[in-house]
Amino acid sequence: MHDLSGRRALFVGGSSGIGLASARLFHSLGATVILAGRSAARLEAARQALGNTSSVETVVFDFAQTGQVDEALAQLPLGGIDHLVITAASVTHGPFSEQPLAELRAMFDSKFWGAYGMVRAALPYLRAGGSIVLFSGVLSRRPGINCAALGAACAAVEALTRGLALELGPRLRVNCIAPGMVRTELHDRVPAERREAMFEKTGSSLPVGRIGQPEEIAEAVLLAATTGYMTGHVLDLDGGHMVRQYATR
Ligand SMILES: NC(=O)c1ccc[n+]([C@@H]2O[C@H](COP(=O)([O-])OP(=O)(O)OC[C@H]3O[C@@H](n4cnc5c(N)ncnc54)[C@H](OP(=O)(O)O)[C@@H]3O)[C@@H](O)[C@H]2O)c1
Repeated sequence: MHDLSGRRALFVGGSSGIGLASARLFHSLGATVILAGRSAARLEAARQALGNTSSVETVVFDFAQTGQVDEALAQLPLGGIDHLVITAASVTHGPFSEQPLAELRAMFDSKFWGAYGMVRAALPYLRAGGSIVLFSGVLSRRPGINCAALGAACAAVEALTRGLALELGPRLRVNCIAPGMVRTELHDRVPAERREAMFEKTGSSLPVGRIGQPEEIAEAVLLAATTGYMTGHVLDLDGGHMVRQYATR
């Protein structure tokens, strides 16, 4: 098993879902973890949930606001971060012709430009030999109705991953995780009954017969962050979403 003692990892989006599960895994392996998000209350709850709070730090910022990111990072030592994991995103979907352009631009400002700006701002704080893990989603290559723009934003993150792997190597490695549906707080805005029906319907359409758990995605984050020969890679963690059966006649 990995020993991450002495390492520091920054989780942008670490107060919830996949980011929190990943932080929990890194922390359990000895790393000092820094949780970042917009809500101080959610970050504090996450910090308490991890236990051994002396090796859990929190920083409050909106990663889509460069001023806030710069100010928050300035509290950290230069070259003091080994792993940067960015799960934060605000996403939206709806019919192509009806979604307000302003809403779609806001999604790109978060999902794509948020990650782009975050990596750029974090560069001086990342130790040589360290790694970056970004997040896209299966929609990048397997589209869904009402998800055209979200799929495009995910594809943009994957292209960014490959470009950064080339440009930032060999100092840093850059990989991306493309999850399928995972049970996280991301889906909390869907009313509970509809949400469970959606999880059940999606899960039963997948080769693994269920949707994913955040802890399963955390394992892939650890792999991408710590495997020295892996860079520019997009890992699908989707229960077989990419090879789903077509409707039978
Ligand atoms: N869960 C899925 O089914 C699924 C499927 C495909 C792809 N993904 C992708 O996987 C990633 C992680 O998803 P998740 O399910 O773990 O989401 P989540 O549970 O909603 O967590 C999102 C985290 O990001 C933070 N955050 C959001 N916007 C932020 C901002 N502007 N600045 C700073 N922090 C921000 C949130 O905290 P605050 O709101 O307090 O800031 C929270 O900690 C996302 O990129 C998502 O698009 C998820």
